[in-house]
Amino acid sequence: MKSNKIAGIINSIDKLPTLPSVYVKLSHLLDAPDSTIKMISNVISEDQATAATILKLVNSALYGFPEKIGNLQRAIVILGLNEIKNLVLATSVLETTKQFKYDCGFDMEEFWRHSIGCAVSARILAETAYLKRPEDVFAGGLLHDIGKLIHVTYLRDEFAGVIKDVEESGIPMFESEEKILGFSHPQTGSALAEKWGLARETIDMIACHHLSDNTITMTKEIAAVHIGNTICTALRMGSGGEKRVPVANQEVWEILGIELSSMEYVMTRAMKLFEESISIFGL
Ligand SMILES: [Fe+2]
Ligand SMILES: [Fe+2]
Repeated sequence: MKSNKIAGIINSIDKLPTLPSVYVKLSHLLDAPDSTIKMISNVISEDQATAATILKLVNSALYGFPEKIGNLQRAIVILGLNEIKNLVLATSVLETTKQFKYDCGFDMEEFWRHSIGCAVSARILAETAYLKRPEDVFAGGLLHDIGKLIHVTYLRDEFAGVIKDVEESGIPMFESEEKILGFSHPQTGSALAEKWGLARETIDMIACHHLSDNTITMTKEIAAVHIGNTICTALRMGSGGEKRVPVANQEVWEILGIELSSMEYVMTRAMKLFEESISIFGL
């Protein structure tokens, strides 16, 4: 019943944000058996802002390569296609949406700073836990709160009520959304990600980052985003509009399997990468 309601909202929004064309073209190209590195590089280069941001990211402390990587073709070879695809997703979604301004008490720049904070924190957790594809966790972290973008854009008056309620009561935003809207940003965000055709793992990371969907099996990747959200909120990397720092679930810690003694390293590195990343993304 509830999922029908959310699907109805998603389907009734005419101007739902679409995935930037550079990402759509890249996805098609990566699915085609005869694509070459040059073709992939050319598609990314069509979007100059995205191409420039990717080169800056590739040469940042996020990767820590000893030599400068001067062009996209080399970046693609060194990083691999999945990493590049996730970087294009991150940079092009940000390029498309970061200039939006809203007047209902929700700060979009702070929102994206929070999202980048979660992405870098979750990625470092994923690397520390030796997960196979930390770049997927980076994408999940970046998009974890994307449902708020739908609420603030298409349900402005109701969402202003949510912001006020969170401010006054201090309850988590997803609980206030459930109370006032009847659904929450993990649900709308994952529905949007599904409509965008993103990977099932990414959809699940968005749907489950507050552990509010018990139909999804917990994975280490979801755990990294859940804890990454706590870390970036505690370290005040931007703001997703929450009044209080969300408490990371103990069982989820155990699933991720990171020693508490690693946390000083994780947090110090997250702060360093956060500062560098937000300057690269122009926030
Ligand atoms: Fe959230
Ligand atoms: Fe968040």
